[in-house]
Amino acid sequence: MSDHAIATTLGAALPGQFPVSTNNPCPFLRALVAGGYVGGHVVPLSELAEMVGCASGETGSALTKVHIETRMVAGIANGLGPVSVFKSATSGAVLDELRNGPLDKHGGGSRILDAEAQVHEDQIERLASFGKDCKDPAGGIETGLTAKEIEAFMAANIKRDGDAARWYFPILMKGEWPVLLKILGKGEGEARYLSVAEVRTLFVERRLPERITARLPKPAAKI
Ligand code: HEM
Repeated sequence: MSDHAIATTLGAALPGQFPVSTNNPCPFLRALVAGGYVGGHVVPLSELAEMVGCASGETGSALTKVHIETRMVAGIANGLGPVSVFKSATSGAVLDELRNGPLDKHGGGSRILDAEAQVHEDQIERLASFGKDCKDPAGGIETGLTAKEIEAFMAANIKRDGDAARWYFPILMKGEWPVLLKILGKGEGEARYLSVAEVRTLFVERRLPERITARLPKPAAKI
């Protein structure tokens, strides 16, 4: 486990959680750091791949695919130059230095988190406005986004970004919301949806649902 204490610009930690750097803009990684599942600074690619693999719940060749894809994304997250890529491959991804890196779309995404890692509730409401009533397999109805609605949400994000949007943003986005749907989604097939309530908890409380954390190895001792 990497050192949690080194992280540069630390945000305030919620009770019982590790602080997460404001320079880590990924809601999924923020929850892993806050929960003590990975360190907040340098995390070896193998450790990151292992953790994302566990969270995915996949097995066999699908799990191998998750491992490979995570290593590829994390391997370029701190820079595309040969020195950065070599450093990432040999020591790990630097999770508190992701901002302004190659994956940062500078407002081309949901804008739920701003550059100071503050959560914008109105942007969560905007996300919800793309959703619809979904049938929770555990019972009840809640607002959620299926793959189709997530596509519409991402297209609207690109449109909102106007001239600032780069040609490769849609490619980056495929590794964000659709992957979150795959991991956190409830229900099967076309009806599978991402719960807006769980997205809110992920961003605001930096917490993954218990059915996901149950798949992860025991976290570092709580503070
Ligand atoms: C299963 C694994 C992962 C999931 C489900 C996931 C999910 C997401 C989501 C939903 C966003 C939010 C985009 C938005 O607000 O519109 C995001 C952003 C981001 N993720 Fe991840 N992520 C994962 C792994 C990673 C990894 C391994 C890295 C790099 C080490 C990473 C780096 C980033 C960065 C830098 C952003 C900010 C992009 C931006 O603001 O434009 N993510 N991720």
